[in-house]
Amino acid sequence: MHTTLVLGGYGFFGARICRALATQKNIRLLLAGRDLQKARALARELGLQAEQGLALDAQAPDLAAKLAELKVDTVIHTAGPFQGQNYAVAEAAIAAGAHYIDLADGREFVVGINQLDAAARARGVLVTSGASSLPALSSAVVDRYLNRFKRLDTIQHGIGSGARAPGLATMRGVFGYCGKSFMRLKNGEWQSATGWLDTIRYRFPSPVGARLLGSCDVPDLALFPLRYPDLKTIIFRAGFASPVGHVFVWCAAHLVRLGVIANLQALVRPLHRISHWMEPLVSDKGGMFVSMSGEDVNQNPITLVWHLIAAQNHGPEIPCGASIALAKKLACGEIQITGAMPCMGLLTVEDYLAALAPFDVQELPA
Ligand SMILES: NC(=O)c1ccc[n+]([C@@H]2O[C@H](COP(=O)([O-])OP(=O)(O)OC[C@H]3O[C@@H](n4cnc5c(N)ncnc54)[C@H](OP(=O)(O)O)[C@@H]3O)[C@@H](O)[C@H]2O)c1
Repeated sequence: MHTTLVLGGYGFFGARICRALATQKNIRLLLAGRDLQKARALARELGLQAEQGLALDAQAPDLAAKLAELKVDTVIHTAGPFQGQNYAVAEAAIAAGAHYIDLADGREFVVGINQLDAAARARGVLVTSGASSLPALSSAVVDRYLNRFKRLDTIQHGIGSGARAPGLATMRGVFGYCGKSFMRLKNGEWQSATGWLDTIRYRFPSPVGARLLGSCDVPDLALFPLRYPDLKTIIFRAGFASPVGHVFVWCAAHLVRLGVIANLQALVRPLHRISHWMEPLVSDKGGMFVSMSGEDVNQNPITLVWHLIAAQNHGPEIPCGASIALAKKLACGEIQITGAMPCMGLLTVEDYLAALAPFDVQELPA
């Protein structure tokens, strides 16, 4: 049996990951957060022993000792936000000889995970950050089509979410850069952009349709120019199912940029509540796209666009695919790589989508 611990296990994404892993015959699943009652309640709901739900604080100084005591083989860390977080959980996992996977979307956090490489190699474990839609799935998509390009110049990708709002940690993370400037590569130069501004209207294939999408500060902006060295432009945008909600965030981003308000953190809880109330009123469909442009092997211009479309509010399953697929592979001994790295090159698109097979998520290949 391979013991897998999901930290943040009763959170929005953590609970979905636990649901997928609870039925794995070769995985002994533990799920934890700071609230023992919530952890035990979910453990029971998933048909596990109540004791498989634990109270653990990700930042506790004795976390490594606890992981060793529990004989944890793999830690899945979902207790964000990761923006501004340290590597205490990954370091504790390494010290306890456990593999480590996180769902981080914080740019510096994911890029900086390499600093744990020597320690992870020395302990013989895999430490990987960003095991989620970005950069795990986005890079797997680009890797799949890379041999169609002699030169890949431009990647523009984006996510239009469905009605179901994610958890507070995700909202704190994505609103953290609302109205704040960040650097991205455009036309071969590093240029400043502003979080949730620079809005476009992107038409996803039916049944999602047109969505407003604003610029976001994500790990791919730093990682892709290193992985795909010919790249001259890399832009990521995201948007909400409700155009009213999107325009509200766009206005707030202007207010932050102008210095009228410092940030959106005080609004996260009320916005989270409002998005729950609005859920029945907005579309249950969402999508992701990756558009790649450049020159093909015959030196002709080429643009390939890949889509993933989710319905029935199954979009929130998508960010969970990487950690589910990796946890299953680690439990079966199918991954021998050790060291610390952003989550790129560890999974193919097929691996990723296999973890989403039970859901209404359809791929439209380029
Ligand atoms: N890379 C991507 O593409 C991508 C996409 C989507 C989401 N994400 C990431 O997924 C993360 C999780 O989001 P979510 O929507 O699931 O958030 P959430 O619902 O707020 O869940 C976070 C969980 O972590 C627990 N937690 C918080 N602090 C903790 C601590 N110190 N120790 C132990 N547990 C703690 C919380 O429970 P308690 O407060 O009760 O402890 C909660 O159960 C986000 O941070 C986001 O960065 C990444």
